[in-house]
Amino acid sequence: MIKRPKIAIVGAGGNVGAAVAQWAVQKELGDLVLIDIKAGPAEGRALDLTQCGPWEGFNNTGFVATDKSEAMAGCDVVVMTAGVPRKPGQTREELININAGIVKGICGDVKKHAPDAVLIVVSNPLDAMVFVAKQVTGFPRERVIGSAGVLDSARFRTYLAMAAGVSVEDVQAMVLGAHTDKDMVPIVSNAMIGNVPVARFLSPEKLTEVIESTKKGGATLTGLIGTSAWQAPGAGTALMVEAIVRNQGRVVPCTVELHGEFGVTGAFAGVPVKLSAKGAERTFEIELSASEKEAFAKAVAANTELMNIAKGFLS
Ligand code: 2OP
Repeated sequence: MIKRPKIAIVGAGGNVGAAVAQWAVQKELGDLVLIDIKAGPAEGRALDLTQCGPWEGFNNTGFVATDKSEAMAGCDVVVMTAGVPRKPGQTREELININAGIVKGICGDVKKHAPDAVLIVVSNPLDAMVFVAKQVTGFPRERVIGSAGVLDSARFRTYLAMAAGVSVEDVQAMVLGAHTDKDMVPIVSNAMIGNVPVARFLSPEKLTEVIESTKKGGATLTGLIGTSAWQAPGAGTALMVEAIVRNQGRVVPCTVELHGEFGVTGAFAGVPVKLSAKGAERTFEIELSASEKEAFAKAVAANTELMNIAKGFLS
């Protein structure tokens, strides 16, 4: 029998988890296991999505909704969205004291019940939570991947397209480094619009504005909505799940443990990654400008500082 992919979303009662589920259902990625600390919200999200079926025509998704972590047994991919979201005025870094413990506990469950899964971490502060997940599960680095570069790059591409007045589809651009307002690194030096360098479309001043809008992209939405965004984080994460369960070989920025990339070993940061059935099958280095190199080094230092705080939660 051909096995359908089985995908667990932990924290599925929350907005980001539910958005991952929604995009995954629309893409018919496989059977979904919605797990939340409270069974009610998980069941409610599953029922709500199931009731989209009559109009949206998808009838190809099985749902399990539960508060029991053992339901993730046999999952090919586990998406971790559990933890508190940031409030207006708060940084992602400030969430570490609450979220490190939550992520640690759930990663223990992943190790126990889904030892062969690819684990995608979405909880914040992202890069430090990927470190926690890697430490607790002991999975190889290919199977512990942070979802943030996809989101930050989507925001960067959107702001570039808006500023240049072009189709976002033709904008190729990446954000590397840290998933924090302070230390994310939008890469301008090789950003292209339809294979034409962005500098042909936008002045240095405009590009600086785009970079600043990208860096505070999450904070802007948190201020407008009153809580952290979920649609684009969910879409980016579902794209990663799709790349894995369909073995697509998409190349997108993701946070992984660095093994010498950009001269860094042992720290966690966003770099270009090939996503396949193996997870983060391969990483890539690209040429950076002098200021991007400096910004990347700062991102690694900031992530390492948070990693050291997170270590306090691991004992
Ligand atoms: C954001 O930037 C959820 O951290 C996420 O919107």
